[in-house]
Amino acid sequence: MVLQRAINKNLKITILGMGYIGLPTGIAFARAGYTVYGFDVNTDVIETLKSGKIHIVEPDLQEAFEETLKSGKFIPTLQLEKSDVYIIAVPTPFKKNHEEKIADLTYVEKASEMVGEILEENNLVILESTVPPMTTRLMTDILEKTSNISRDKFMSVHCPERVLPGKILYELEHNDRIIGSEKIEAAELTRTIYSAMVKEGTCYLTDDITAEMCKLIENTFRDVNIAFANELSIICDKLEINVFELIKLANKHPRVNILTPGAGVGGHCLAVDPWFIVEKFPNEAKVIKEARLINDFKPRFIVNKVDEILERNKELTIGILGLAYKPDIDDLRESPAMEIAEILRDKGYKVIACEPNVNKKEVCKFKLYSLEEIIEEADYLVLAQGHTEFKNKIAKLKNSKVYDCLGLI
Ligand SMILES: NC(=O)c1ccc[n+]([C@@H]2O[C@H](COP(=O)([O-])OP(=O)(O)OC[C@H]3O[C@@H](n4cnc5c(N)ncnc54)[C@H](O)[C@@H]3O)[C@@H](O)[C@H]2O)c1
Repeated sequence: MVLQRAINKNLKITILGMGYIGLPTGIAFARAGYTVYGFDVNTDVIETLKSGKIHIVEPDLQEAFEETLKSGKFIPTLQLEKSDVYIIAVPTPFKKNHEEKIADLTYVEKASEMVGEILEENNLVILESTVPPMTTRLMTDILEKTSNISRDKFMSVHCPERVLPGKILYELEHNDRIIGSEKIEAAELTRTIYSAMVKEGTCYLTDDITAEMCKLIENTFRDVNIAFANELSIICDKLEINVFELIKLANKHPRVNILTPGAGVGGHCLAVDPWFIVEKFPNEAKVIKEARLINDFKPRFIVNKVDEILERNKELTIGILGLAYKPDIDDLRESPAMEIAEILRDKGYKVIACEPNVNKKEVCKFKLYSLEEIIEEADYLVLAQGHTEFKNKIAKLKNSKVYDCLGLI
């Protein structure tokens, strides 16, 4: 019966957490024809949404939001109400003031308790947050305990999110999804619901732990491969050979494809998710942990090189080209380029920056300049991010003194 209602899109869906993931997911489900309640504990977030505005920066989302709000398919709310389906998309940061990097699951636990308090038999609860393995079972334990309903009588699923900020709406409708559950009927029901939204992608079914690990290893794969390239850059520095030339030549082999070294690894996914495996398997996840440490060390390695090249002359002005954590975005969170800028400033250098994706005069007390201005203003440049603007104007840098983290020059 629930399956038939899902096919008819006659199910009430509530999403807990109206952030970068929950809000676009709610809008995409509403566009697919479901009635979606967008619940958040943050009053400001819900008030903003109720006033017709979104509170996150994401292309095309405002227009899509307005459409679904107008059609009555998407309803922002501060009141968690009984629904057929609950989707949990709350934060999973690291624990604060903890020496080891360990997932703080208090948001997931709290959201599970809130759902447990209104849960009914045959309800479906889907965890979308990125979590360490076994967390979906922890959610089921909490739901069972809080609701007093046996786990045989409701359904728990993990369906991790793998969208790219800046392309979220498109990727929600085009990316393949992994749906994991201890119960096949729960996974199948979830597939029916998500298939309405995932127009171009395929929904693959598996168990909950495989789904949790799948999300984590996707980002870990990238992190480990980048760490290999970064480690090579450190070794080549000692050998006094050009790492970019070395990698280019090695990649001539038909089965070798080494990535490009850079300033490090940042953002809130690649630099975070591998630790969720390490925390559970500290003795086994050796490569994964070492890769994290290598990528975390890279900004400091670059600072030491620059300090050495400049003979510690603190009279000099250093210009950082690119502060964001990856090309062509404005997100500075956990950015290795930002870390380079901050450590150089702490060492006593005057540090200025050029970040073409940020439309401000200053960020974190770093004055922002155009590329042309910073070439004039700085004594030494650090090319930390491969923004398209820099690639397009690379010839302008040829006469400047530059530490090129990316091999673009
Ligand atoms: N942002 C991304 O690009 C991305 C990509 C893939 C996966 N993820 C994962 O998705 C999850 C959510 O990330 P995000 O970026 O959307 O976070 P976010 O911080 O943007 O939003 C989370 C929202 O959840 C709300 N919240 C907290 N507790 C709540 C509760 N009990 N009930 C209702 N709302 C509650 C917060 O107020 C906030 O508005 C995380 O696990 C993250 O790792 C994020």
